[in-house]
Amino acid sequence: MSNPFRIGVAVRGVFFTDRADETARTAAILQEGGARLLMVGERRVGKTSVLLRGIERAQRAGGQAFLVDCGTAGSALEIANRVLNAATRALGRDWSATVSDLTRRVRGRIQVSTDQAGSPAISFEPTFASDPTADHAALGAVLDALDARAKRERRIIGIALDEVQRLTGILGGEPGEWVLRGLLQHHQHLGYVLAGSEPTVLSAMQGRGRAFYQQLSLLTVGPMDPAHFARWIDDRAARANVTASGLGAACIALAGPRTRDVTQLARAAFAAALAPNASRGARRALTGAELADTGFSDLVAEQSDPFRALWEGLARTRQQALRALAVGDVGLTTEAARRAYGLGSSGVVGSALTALRDARVILRAADYSAGYVFDNPYLRGWVIRNALPDLGIVLPVTHLPRARAG
Ligand SMILES: Nc1ncnc2c1ncn2[C@@H]1O[C@H](COP(=O)(O)OP(=O)(O)OP(=O)(O)O)[C@@H](O)[C@H]1O
Ligand SMILES: [Mg+2]
Repeated sequence: MSNPFRIGVAVRGVFFTDRADETARTAAILQEGGARLLMVGERRVGKTSVLLRGIERAQRAGGQAFLVDCGTAGSALEIANRVLNAATRALGRDWSATVSDLTRRVRGRIQVSTDQAGSPAISFEPTFASDPTADHAALGAVLDALDARAKRERRIIGIALDEVQRLTGILGGEPGEWVLRGLLQHHQHLGYVLAGSEPTVLSAMQGRGRAFYQQLSLLTVGPMDPAHFARWIDDRAARANVTASGLGAACIALAGPRTRDVTQLARAAFAAALAPNASRGARRALTGAELADTGFSDLVAEQSDPFRALWEGLARTRQQALRALAVGDVGLTTEAARRAYGLGSSGVVGSALTALRDARVILRAADYSAGYVFDNPYLRGWVIRNALPDLGIVLPVTHLPRARAG
């Protein structure tokens, strides 16, 4: 029986649920000339999946749209190449012919080859790489060519730029936002969705005095509706012959609120349901909560190597702060925490917390007693299992930090 939950890729088809409003808005922007939408959301919440769904929807409505992932790119030229290739895949051979026009607009040459699947692969010659201004010009030229083509054909082309914080970073941070604005501004036949996963950085882009002030409409992708998500998980599992009451709700309670973390747990719990149940003589169907616990424990164990490496790279104060956070019963800069966990002065703890936040190991969470939570629920489990016993504290790996009363 194949697992009905998928992780590690943006999900489509039956693996995708919900997000009707976000998808509709994305699709609409991708079909509206001159429209600009900024999509922000925390990591692993499901942004790329919404983008792909929105693109599919725009295409079904007769539009042309594609996604360009700016993440991991090292230069504007690499992004220009990604746009070229994504456009070639979405717009077809016709567009590759148009591309030769580009050669005239930019100082340099474009090479056309064929990839393994036999589709044309187009890129700027690598000689561009040495000159950053030619680099920006190359990206501008590709986007201008797309706008010109859309205009000529009296249609709109939708472009989703994913991980756009990487692009503004490459273009030079805050001044780079002006460069990006300059690149996109004149395109009346392109609809852009700019998506990214550093909500504070991205939201700042449209602050007063910044490049995108009043230039973008905003779409926040938050956690999935828990009641819907829980039902969907139960239903997907049941259709694959695993009926365990309360499975979805238990996954959300343990791994929430990030969509990926929850789906990952549902996947592991489903796998646990199928595993031979050696420890029990009489086979009894496990409840949803038991399956979620087993799945959680398995995921903590599976990721033990990277977690250990991360832990060993942390200064001692940071380790202590994480231990206290894994228990999560008191505010970290309080006298009680200092006594219970041997933490230093509030200044020392404060800077440890800032460093952990900058490294995205923890997040501010005002509704929890400790004031912070782990970004990764499985790292929390690893700390509980492997680092708390050093303090003589033994808790189940699935222990949850305390939410503030009221
Ligand atoms: N609408 C959805 N329905 C079901 N599962 C989803 C949905 N959206 C996301 N997921 C789950 O979350 C995982 C991550 O989704 P996705 O890559 O879209 O998130 P993201 O916000 O783009 O993440 P990142 O910050 O890593 O780029 C998917 O692989 C899938 O397991
Ligand atoms: Mg993504």
